[in-house]
Amino acid sequence: MADPVQEHYEALPYPPRDPRDEAKRLITGSPSRLDELNHYVYGGARDFGKPFRALVAGGGTGDAAIMLAQQLADAGANAEVVYLDWSKTTRAVAEARAAARRLTNIRFVSGSLIEFGSLGLGRFDYIDCCGVLHHLPDPAAGLASLAGALNDEGGLGLMLYARLGRTGIYPLQEALRGLLNDADNIDTRLAVAKKLLAQLPATNWLKRNPFVTDHLTEGDSGIFDLLLHARDRAYDVAETNDFVEAAALRLVAFVPEARYRPESYVSDAALLKRIERLSPIERAALAENIVGNLKSHVFYAVKRANPVTPPAPDRPDLVPVYCELDPAELGAKLKPAGVLTASFEGWQSKLPLPPLAPAIAGLIDGKRNLGQVHAALRERRADLAWDEFAAQFRVFYAAFNGIARLMLRAPSR
Ligand SMILES: C[S@@+](CC[C@H](N)C(=O)[O-])C[C@H]1O[C@@H](n2cnc3c(N)ncnc32)[C@H](O)[C@@H]1O
Repeated sequence: MADPVQEHYEALPYPPRDPRDEAKRLITGSPSRLDELNHYVYGGARDFGKPFRALVAGGGTGDAAIMLAQQLADAGANAEVVYLDWSKTTRAVAEARAAARRLTNIRFVSGSLIEFGSLGLGRFDYIDCCGVLHHLPDPAAGLASLAGALNDEGGLGLMLYARLGRTGIYPLQEALRGLLNDADNIDTRLAVAKKLLAQLPATNWLKRNPFVTDHLTEGDSGIFDLLLHARDRAYDVAETNDFVEAAALRLVAFVPEARYRPESYVSDAALLKRIERLSPIERAALAENIVGNLKSHVFYAVKRANPVTPPAPDRPDLVPVYCELDPAELGAKLKPAGVLTASFEGWQSKLPLPPLAPAIAGLIDGKRNLGQVHAALRERRADLAWDEFAAQFRVFYAAFNGIARLMLRAPSR
């Protein structure tokens, strides 16, 4: 008998996408934006002129494969993106999207991650696997086989479901299992789920969780993916880290980083002092428990022996680059020493910005390095010393990188 998860994605590709929309927009996001993966996996120093092979494992309807292939093509990279999924209907959507964009740098493969080793796909510099490992019968074995296909200097961009932010989903999945029989087909399952959804009392935990909205507005494929999945588990921060370490990998960072900093949420000096004593993972776990709205964990990982770190924002040769922000618009909007506000599932960030924020914001163009940004500012303020600029840029960077909108490129190695 076919695997129920494979049957599910054959019948209902997820997320639903219309290839005609490629003419209107490129869907971007974390992980796997090119500048973001370069920042976290390669310390910003990857030379995309050198051959680059990426795998999108469980590529679905194509979001990551299309974004990555498009950004690599735009960068003139010498790259191949391998898309792997076991659902042929899902692959057809991704292929149509690639065709609409005339992308020629994606190789589409149909196959199962469970038999990954026998697919002979070779080795990769980067692997994206989003929303897939938590659906495997043995997620640890799945991650280990992906890690085995990674070049020593490569890395992974991963997404796992997060338990706390998914409050209410699992009791409803269990309720539906109680109402359904093995013989019920996909249409019947959906009909039963919709009837139950329509009758939920106001006290139901999914109804009381206002952060789970996306799947419920995505039609049948969203409802099935959320409530009728045959295999679906979730992880907290500590479990995510254990999961990564068990595959001989090291977690580089959760993104957006500001959501994983307790100091994004608390300002009391005594609490901050206690937070200082915690390890990075303990801080992230604390942040998750304080904010409560993280529905998924997006993070980058590299091999345990790989010492790479994201570039520290204090070298004149680093080039700051925005992820989908317009420098002119931003420069005009920011106030000196204001705060950066952004909305994340009910939480509104208020990240401190330095006095020079509007001026710095308008000078970031993905070409000027920090030395050149400093020089341009000195044309307006001749006494602006590098140390003062660097101190202000660190605050600017903590805010914008914290919401995953600013990365750093380093001279390539
Ligand atoms: C929730 S979707 C996520 C798709 C995509 N990664 C994204 O983020 O939009 C999960 C995908 O993983 C695929 N998948 C699940 N288990 C798989 C397996 N064992 N082998 C290959 N693909 C698998 C499904 O077919 C489905 O397309």
